[in-house]
Amino acid sequence: MSDDVKIVEVGPRDGLQNEKMPLTLEQRKTLILALMQTGLQSIEVGSCVSPKWVPQMANSTELFAELPQNTGIALSLLTPNLKGFEQALACGCKEVAVFTAASESFTQKNINCSIAESFEKFADVIALAKQNDIKVRGYVSCVVDCPYEGAISPQQVTQVVTKLFDMGCYEISLGETIGTATPDRVKRLWASVLNEIDSKFLAGHFHNTYGMAIANIYQSLEQGIRTFDSSVSGLGGCPYAKGAAGNVATEDLYYLLNNMGFKTGIDIDALMQASHDINQVLQRHNPSNYAQAYFQNKA
Ligand code: HMG
Ligand code: MG
Repeated sequence: MSDDVKIVEVGPRDGLQNEKMPLTLEQRKTLILALMQTGLQSIEVGSCVSPKWVPQMANSTELFAELPQNTGIALSLLTPNLKGFEQALACGCKEVAVFTAASESFTQKNINCSIAESFEKFADVIALAKQNDIKVRGYVSCVVDCPYEGAISPQQVTQVVTKLFDMGCYEISLGETIGTATPDRVKRLWASVLNEIDSKFLAGHFHNTYGMAIANIYQSLEQGIRTFDSSVSGLGGCPYAKGAAGNVATEDLYYLLNNMGFKTGIDIDALMQASHDINQVLQRHNPSNYAQAYFQNKA
């Protein structure tokens, strides 16, 4: 296969938001600058959310403003409401992401409102984004299971995804938040969503709690999905999904895609340097299989 696959690196946001040890702005900046040297074309820098809710993401706009702009790399911020969006706008951000879920309970715990109320907040964000020529990505969490409600039906997910698309999100990322899915369920999920929306507007966001993320991505590739979110060194989890592991490691995603003949544009040695350095800072073991093999072969 020779298609390109877009990777959205979410380590500095989804990864670090859940690390027990909050990093300094300088440490977060060092990670992002290193990731900007790897060939990755999209990087989520942080979140404009309440620092009382997620202290690890405090001062994300300050961080954003210190990054080199106009490099061609899309740098984005999460914005759950108008307050967050206005902060993103003020720091010169050109792409934001709104986020809701296919589960009512998760939406309440995560952003303190119902799914319907989240759409009302996003309508304001999207209207102002349009006026300012800012791209808006949409996230839907709990696309297979919810930590509070259990299984979520593909139909329910499809409704929420379709709503975000109709509201003007240019891409919707489907979050397998707690990493319990297996490929059979992912297949049914995409089958339902793809009935309504073309694959070019969709992305897969797989957490790796049970080691199924790569299998689920393979299934998604089979159904035509060509955009995936991943986290360098599999950093992170979700503060509102207890026990959920980090995203699929960018290193493991690279290995799958590269060996299947997809183009990713990634310079693997630069990625491994970024991966090594962030683990040193966090004093953390790298759970990526690819990374373990890479460093063993180097030793
Ligand atoms: P709220 O308490 O309902 O907000 O929080 P409110 O409008 O009632 O305001 C209460 C206070 O929060 C006020 O301050 C506001 O100014 C402030 P006070 O007067 O008390 O001093 N406030 C804000 N401060 C900073 N930034 C803002 C903001 N909005 C209000 N944007 C809110 C609502 C959404 C802010 C809150 O629930 C929150 O911050 N939640 C955190 C959500 C989060 O970051 N979750 C993790 C990311 S999502 C994820 O990881 C899933 C994903 O990876 C996909 C997947 O894996 O499934 C994307
Ligand atoms: Mg996530």
